[in-house]
Amino acid sequence: MKKAYLFMLSGCFASLPMTMWAETLHVATPGTSLVIDASKGDKAKFLYYGEKLSDADVSALGDSGAAALDLFPAYGVNPEHEAAVAMTHADGNMTLDMVVEAAETKRLPDGTLTTVTLRDKVYPVDIKLNYRTYDGEDVIETWTETINGEKGEVTLRRFDSGYLPVRYGDVWLSSLYGAWANEGRVEEAPLTHGMKVIKNKDGVRNSHTAHSEVMLSLDGKPQENEGRVIGAALCYSGNYELRFDTDYGDYHHFFAGINPDDSEYKLAKGESFVTPPLALTYSEEGLSGASRNFHKWGRNRKIAHGNEERKILLNSWEGVYFDINEEGMDAMMADIASMGGELFVMDDGWFGVKYPRNNDSTSLGDWSVDKTKLPSGIKGLLDSAKKHGVKFGIWIEPEMVNSISELYEKHPEYVIKAAKREPTMGRGGTQMVLDMANPKVQDLVFNVVDTLLTNYPEIDYIKWDANAPIMDHGSQYLSADKQSHLYHAYHEGFAKTVDRIRAKYPDVTIQACASGGGRANYGVLPWFDEFWVSDNTDALQRVYMQWGTSYFFPAVAMASHISAAPNHQTFLTIPLKYRADVAMSGRLGMEIQPKNMTEEEKEFCRRAIASYKEIRPVVQQGDIYRLQSPYDDKGVASLMYVAPDKNEAVFYWYKTESFVNQQLPRIKMAGLDPDRMYTVTELNCIDNKPLPYEGKSFSGRYLMSNGLEIPASHSVDYHKQNDWASRILRLQAK
Ligand code: DGJ
Repeated sequence: MKKAYLFMLSGCFASLPMTMWAETLHVATPGTSLVIDASKGDKAKFLYYGEKLSDADVSALGDSGAAALDLFPAYGVNPEHEAAVAMTHADGNMTLDMVVEAAETKRLPDGTLTTVTLRDKVYPVDIKLNYRTYDGEDVIETWTETINGEKGEVTLRRFDSGYLPVRYGDVWLSSLYGAWANEGRVEEAPLTHGMKVIKNKDGVRNSHTAHSEVMLSLDGKPQENEGRVIGAALCYSGNYELRFDTDYGDYHHFFAGINPDDSEYKLAKGESFVTPPLALTYSEEGLSGASRNFHKWGRNRKIAHGNEERKILLNSWEGVYFDINEEGMDAMMADIASMGGELFVMDDGWFGVKYPRNNDSTSLGDWSVDKTKLPSGIKGLLDSAKKHGVKFGIWIEPEMVNSISELYEKHPEYVIKAAKREPTMGRGGTQMVLDMANPKVQDLVFNVVDTLLTNYPEIDYIKWDANAPIMDHGSQYLSADKQSHLYHAYHEGFAKTVDRIRAKYPDVTIQACASGGGRANYGVLPWFDEFWVSDNTDALQRVYMQWGTSYFFPAVAMASHISAAPNHQTFLTIPLKYRADVAMSGRLGMEIQPKNMTEEEKEFCRRAIASYKEIRPVVQQGDIYRLQSPYDDKGVASLMYVAPDKNEAVFYWYKTESFVNQQLPRIKMAGLDPDRMYTVTELNCIDNKPLPYEGKSFSGRYLMSNGLEIPASHSVDYHKQNDWASRILRLQAK
């Protein structure tokens, strides 16, 4: 939208009218607006981000009294403020002074792309600020491209993808923190004066500890279903940095991008640097509203096959660990098939000829079948799968190598290590990371997948693992003057490789696993169908981890498996019902040795899997409404998924602690059609008598303003009683 504004100078110059040509850019989604002033020759200014504005309000924004803030603060002139970009020019000058050179909005087949080109007042350096919308999605992606038009090399010292000013107030930050086996933990705190920095320096995996996604609640303590919320997700597989600067002014300043630590980037004459997208969303329906926006955009635009249903699988890891053999795999396939599962995944331990993979200290890199364990090879496993009527999937960890491997013997130059130093070893005392910056390594990794899928096109699923960080700063491939490119070059190489894989194998399902939940990020998901949430499969801990993870990622991408009791990570003994009820709120699978299950347990799982097939479309493609957070310590957690047409919903309720005569809150439902009647059916029921409302119907209005009373325990025979309780209720509109 191009507009001419007449600016009247006030005060003593009131009699002098002055005309300025301003370009107001309105980046609009169905429910949100981002408004920018990009007047040629002037600083680009941020005017607004929030609820969708009418054209009249966009035009009047200049008169709202709100400050027009720098759209993308650059370092150098007035350098006391935090900047989104910083550069050293070829002549050593460390400043940027950027003004608008051009602005345009292009129609794309499925959305719009608005680009504001900034040019330095003195140096021939351009920074293009991009804002991309997708039809029907309330998400705006923003990223930059810096183009070096100077005669010599420039050095980027900071290169954020996006910057957003947020009006100072009672603004709370919700973010995810964690560790191995404890990923996706929610932390909430008000933004106070000073800087809050969330960053990652792992080099390979970037969501074990903190996440590069956040929510900002603008109206005080975060609420699930009300209040204004801005959500932000940096879509990048590598090291990131999010900064929140609350200074003395009227704004909190939010910056997000690649972590610049030890990563300054050199651009030769004519070269450009493109940053990964920062996805922004806004909702007035609380955290859950922002999650729904992310989930819908994720499923439609960002996650491989995000709109397709996922198969119910059995993964061999916790069932047999490295103890792979033909008979055992065949038995597991028979078992998952008999319970109604659709896919079997053989995890670690199947490969290595010279060095068989019997534990985690050998063989990574040698992706040939160990014929002593699997005499009929992968062909034999595929035959078994066919015989049992399930699909077959396989585990690989192609970015890694053990020092005890044929690959390392042949190519020690492929690993990441500092010059003149011995490489640091990770998992198993022998694991190293291959240098994905090196095109030969990219080919090697591509070939691991290509060989498997060319030889065995029936392979339906790949579990792609990555179990080490970058442990030494050093690329044997990059030149001495480009060593600071290592972290980013690794992920450029990773992206190129998975791009090639996807071009050739668009249909195979690929899971991003990285020592558990180390690769839950929208920078990974365009090539991957799902991620492993955590190596911790304990159902109680999963309630907390999946809660946090669901802030940003939909159930279709969250692999959630029923595992054994006592749990292998926490040693907690949680009943099968609770374990199944939790796994059924994500992408259901199993991670267990079925031969150790009783017939009664298998029968229960058979029923659970059959029920999951019925609710799968709603769980995997529906809208999430989180109702009662486990982090509120009310003794219960509850959430639901509602089909987009509100015809059907699934309600989950989990007790998170157990005290006698404990008063638990009654949970109000959300997202239903108030005027329709919903019939209630309990799934995975274990009680001797049905719930009083089994088969009964209630209006959406009643369920949302009152909710149903959920008994605090199960009515089961004495010897089956325990301190756990959970429920899944299916609601079907009449
Ligand atoms: C780490 C993964 O998170 C596990 O699920 C399993 O695949 C192991 N690696 C295998 O080594």
